Order: sequence, then structure tokens, then C-alpha cells
Amino acid sequence: MNEAQAQAKIEKLREEINFHNYRYYVLDNPVISDAEYDQLMRELENLEQQFPDFVTPTSPTQRVGAPPLEKFEEIRHTLPMLSLANAFEEEEVKEFDSRVKRFLETSHDIEYCAELKMDGVAVELIYENGHFTTGSTRGDGFVGENVTQNLKTVRTIPLTLIPGPGESLPSRLEARGEVYLPIKAFEALNRQREKSGESLFANPRNAAAGSLRQLDSSITSQRPLDFFCYGMGQLSGQTFATQWELLEALLHWGFKVNPHRKQCRKIEAVLEYFLEVDELRDKLPYEIDGVVIKVNSLRLQETLGNIARSPRWALAFKFKPKQVTTKIRDIIVNVGRTGALTPTAIMDPVRVGGVEISRATLHNQDEIDKKDVRIGDTVVIQRAGDVIPEVVRVVFEKRTGKEKKFRIPNQCPVCGSDVEKPRGKKEMAVVRCTGIACPAKLKETIVHFASRDALNIEGLGEKIIEQLVDKGRVKDYADLYALTLKDLLTLERMGEKLGENILTAIQNSKKTSLERLIYALGILHVGEHIAKLLAREFPTLEKLSRASWKKLKTIHGIGDEIATSIVQFFQQKDNQKVIQKLKESGVEYPSRPLPVQPILRKLEGKTFVLTGSLKSLSRSEAESKVESLGGRPSSSVSKKTDFVVVGEDPGSKYEKAKTLGVKILTEDEFLRMLAPDDG
Ligand code: IVH
Repeated sequence: MNEAQAQAKIEKLREEINFHNYRYYVLDNPVISDAEYDQLMRELENLEQQFPDFVTPTSPTQRVGAPPLEKFEEIRHTLPMLSLANAFEEEEVKEFDSRVKRFLETSHDIEYCAELKMDGVAVELIYENGHFTTGSTRGDGFVGENVTQNLKTVRTIPLTLIPGPGESLPSRLEARGEVYLPIKAFEALNRQREKSGESLFANPRNAAAGSLRQLDSSITSQRPLDFFCYGMGQLSGQTFATQWELLEALLHWGFKVNPHRKQCRKIEAVLEYFLEVDELRDKLPYEIDGVVIKVNSLRLQETLGNIARSPRWALAFKFKPKQVTTKIRDIIVNVGRTGALTPTAIMDPVRVGGVEISRATLHNQDEIDKKDVRIGDTVVIQRAGDVIPEVVRVVFEKRTGKEKKFRIPNQCPVCGSDVEKPRGKKEMAVVRCTGIACPAKLKETIVHFASRDALNIEGLGEKIIEQLVDKGRVKDYADLYALTLKDLLTLERMGEKLGENILTAIQNSKKTSLERLIYALGILHVGEHIAKLLAREFPTLEKLSRASWKKLKTIHGIGDEIATSIVQFFQQKDNQKVIQKLKESGVEYPSRPLPVQPILRKLEGKTFVLTGSLKSLSRSEAESKVESLGGRPSSSVSKKTDFVVVGEDPGSKYEKAKTLGVKILTEDEFLRMLAPDDG
């Protein structure tokens, strides 16, 4: 075969394969057998191997096999990916319809397109001249992550579009839709993860998001992700009259479009459709969380435009959180990373919104008392989104008198140490284990350290950590860096391949960022957000560890409790040793140049008004000082003003400040405020 012949054959094979892909995955109506399909694929693979020059990025052979990435590149969306306003009640939906009419100044019925609200991950797919070039996550709506390689592994995402008869494909199309994991696939994935000691996904949406954000697309390719297209960003050279027409066009180009959708002549028809969908919900092989209502006419959509970050022309009509009843068999106590004892109800397994549940949190003793929950009670439980299922109320009518009351023990169920109940207002109900060496705390601390948003040690799941702690091989998180393959091979269900992967993941985690590292340490009350604030303020962990309480308090967002907890953490000799050990093991983060002026935003959010002349600095110098410390200079006094600085010959602002009761500062007091703290 010469080159020209090969090229022609390759193109023909690709066309055929794409067609059969579409029949199989999108229409669910194949016209050839799997064996025949495999034969076509093999033929194409062979030819591409012989003529590698003809391999293109959108050939059906290119769905898998891309090398792993270091990190995801950022992609700015041409048009922002907005979010939807929510409604839970019919009334709110009718109000939405009235709002639309009011805005359009019409009393005529508005036609809507009603679609299922998929509970997955929103993505944007860019097609240039019919070829899939880039795919990204929604991100913050403006900038997402480039997950092209992972999206290519999703069989229902076309790599090349199918033009209609006599039609040319748009030069650019930004298709939008939802990637999701079918419920069955989610359950199988969790079963498999449980076996290999990895942490479980809370729900199909989290599993889909986790699968889509893999740096190694070969992992994504093992997860049977699916896709429904429901809209678009930019489209060149073509217009449609309605959302409905747009969906039809997307379908014909080869996208999977959800068959459950309805054109509704007026809002009442949407309300009826919602009831139909509610019935349908439990029979669907994927999770939905409501119905999306869109004004059908694209022209009207444009007139309506957006408000804040959601369109005025659409609404998410969501299902109320699912509630079911079941029976409590037992109440157990879990000990978390911070030593908090959480009572958990063990129940007869029930399905709620497509997921089987056998545990629900009871939060704390106060909640148990308030709801009067007892072992043996029949209870209503609910689950909304990815929150942990919780007990809503007891069905008292079902009480038999044999139910047993429950009290959180005074000793930690894991290590036997006494528990303490701090007196702080907010934490009234939280009971903590006081044992320094409590294995439950240690396990959770290490699980936290290795978790995705901390040092992200992939594959090092709960089951493995539990064994490592029980065997005494890991006594703190720095011990992870001394693990050998031999250590790992002593664990249950551990093979050489898995062990090596875990060791590599541990090694890779050494290169991290300061904010991840701070978060990973597991300081009480220091979540991701606070860790970020701290990393912004302190260039190194050493500097943070030496920060005074007073200094920490100057950071906007850090209050007494958090500052105390940070100081206490770093005061502990044991913690210092572990941090030193981490450093010696090679855990590092990029150093950041010190800002020319230290950013001490101790006047954050405070408004200053100056009146009269100051002796030591000019008005504009004073104002820029205030600004450099995060404060806001203003020229007029109001009740919202925090301070009025009074110099010589003050004007009427001084009088006004006195009348309004605004705090007045002399020049000296003001200067003291600007002076750097000792901390
Ligand atoms: S249209 C302006 N249609 O819901 C937003 N969104 O809260 C246009 N979603 O991030 C989105 N199913 O991930 C639209 N049929 C559907 C949808 C849908 C699920 C998600 C989407 C978006 C979120 C908005």
C-alpha cells in the first residue's frame, strides 16, 4: 500500500469507527457487533503504526495513551460559565415566570425548555472545524482547568463532529454539558476502592470530579464517565431560534443529548413536567438534582441577560432533600483527627437518591438529646448533595418501649483516655479525646495529611494508613517518608505494583506548596482557607511557627480561637520535631520573594477620616500609610467611619464625628496605630 492509499484507507476507517461509536454510545443502537468494531479499530491502529505521519489528535485511536501531566494548564472561557439560581417551591417558579414577563414587559405566556439537571461536573468542549481541540472544567466560571486528555477518554464525547447533509461544520463551537458517572459505575468503583484500601467517594458527582481531575488520563480512562450536552458558549456562523433547536443541532452533530426534555408552552406545563421527572428520578441510571427551566427563545434569552453570575432566563427547580425512614441498630462513636468524638447511627441499609446508606451522623450529645434519638428507634434520615446523611427526627409513633438511650462515653472508645468537654460557647457540644497518643487521632491526622487538598498522596488510603499505624510503622506523618517497599508488602492485599505506586506518590508529594503544607499539618481550626491566609502572610513555615499570638491576630480572618490554636500547635515540642523531620525528609515548597513592604494588614477594613493638619506627616502620606496597612481613607464622616484623626485646626468633620459618636484619635494615638507591632 502506498502513502496515498494508506491515507485514504485511514480516513475511511476513522469515519466508519466514528459512525459506529455514535450508534453504540450516543444512540445506544449499534449496527455491528463488538467483534466487528474491534476489527475496524485494530485495522486503523495497524495502519497508523505503519504510517505514523497520518496520526491526528482526534483519531479514534487517540482516546487513551497520553503521557501524564505535571499539572493542569488554566483555560479562560470565552464566555463565562454561569451558575443557576435555585428554587425549591412551585411558588418560587411562578415568581420566576412573573419576573421574566415583567422584564420583557409582556403578559403573554412564555415558552420554556425544561431539561434534567444533571448532578455531575460542568465542562466546556471546543471544536475547531469539527475537531475536538480543548476541553476544560468550569473552574470559577471564568477560568477552568485544561482536562482535554481526560475528556478524550469519555466515549460519548465526539472527537470529530458529524456534519448534516450538505452542511459545513462551524469553524468554532464551544459545547457545554455535564460529565457524570452512572450510579452502577460509581458503586463498582467504590467497591473496588474499598478492596484496595482507598478512600471512598461520597457520591457519583465527587467520583466524576475526582476522575476528571486526574493528571494521568490512563486512570480516567478506567472510569466509565459519560456526558450529556446541554448548551453552548460561543458558536461561529450559525444561529438558532430556540434552546430546543440548539439541542437538536447538538444531537445531530454527534453529542449525547438527554432524551428527557420538554418544550413547555407556559410555566404550568413546566410544573407538571417537574412532577413527572420526580417520578422518573429513581429509575434513571444517573443522578439528577432537579429540572433546569430555560426560556426557549434565544432572542428573549439575550434580552433578559444576566444578573450577577446567573442568567435571568433560567432557573434550577431542585428536588427537596430526599428523606427516608429506617431503623437505628446501634450508635457508635468515631474519633476524628482533632480527637472529636462523633456519635454515628448504624442503620438498616436504605437507598437515598440512588446511594445506599447505612450510617448517619448524630453530630453530638446535644443533638441526640434534643431529638431524643435512641438505639432501636425508627428515624427519618436525609441526604442533600454530598453532605453526610443525618438523622432528621424520630418517628415516635413507632416506639415500642424497648429503645435504649445513648450517652457518649467519658473515655475515648479507641484509647481509653478521658474525654474533655471544653467550655467555649461554640464548642459546647464537642467532646474530645485527651490522649496524646490516641491511634484514632493519629490515623485521622495521617489520612488528612495525605488527602487530596493537603499533600495529595494518591493511593495512600484509610485502610493502608490504619494498618501502618496499627503495626507501629508510622507514628507521625514524617514517618511516611521513611517507608520502604518491604514495609508496604507486609500489609494486606498489597502487591508490588501498588506498593511501588504508593512509594512514588509519597516521593512526589515532597514537592508541595506552603499553603498545602500548613493545611496538611492538621492544626485545629486551620482549614484550607486559613492555611492560604497564613501562607500569604508568612514566607516560610519557620516564620509562621515563631509568630506571636498578637501578630497572628493582625491577619484579617484570624480570630482569638484560631490564633491560640496555631500558637499552641507550634509550642508543642513533639510537633516541632515532626516538622523538623519533614524538612529533613525533603518536603519543600517554592520560596517566595519577600514583599518589599511586609504586608501587615492590621487596619484591614477600617475607615479613617483625617481632619486638620498633622505635625509629622502630610495628609497624603497619612492616607497612603493607612492604605498600605489595609485600611481605607475617606473624606467624609459617617456612622460607618471607624476613626477620625484630628490634627491642628480641625474642620467641621471633628464636630460631626463627636455628634455621631465616632472614635476620635489624636496624632499620637494615630501614629501608635501605624507603628509596627513587636510580634
Ligand atoms: S444550563 C447558566 N442545563 O447546573 C448556566 N446546566 O447551576 C447554564 N447543570 O454548572 C447551565 N444540568 O453544571 C444547564 N440541563 C442543564 C444542566 C445544567 C446540570 C449544571 C451545570 C451548571 C449548574 C448551574
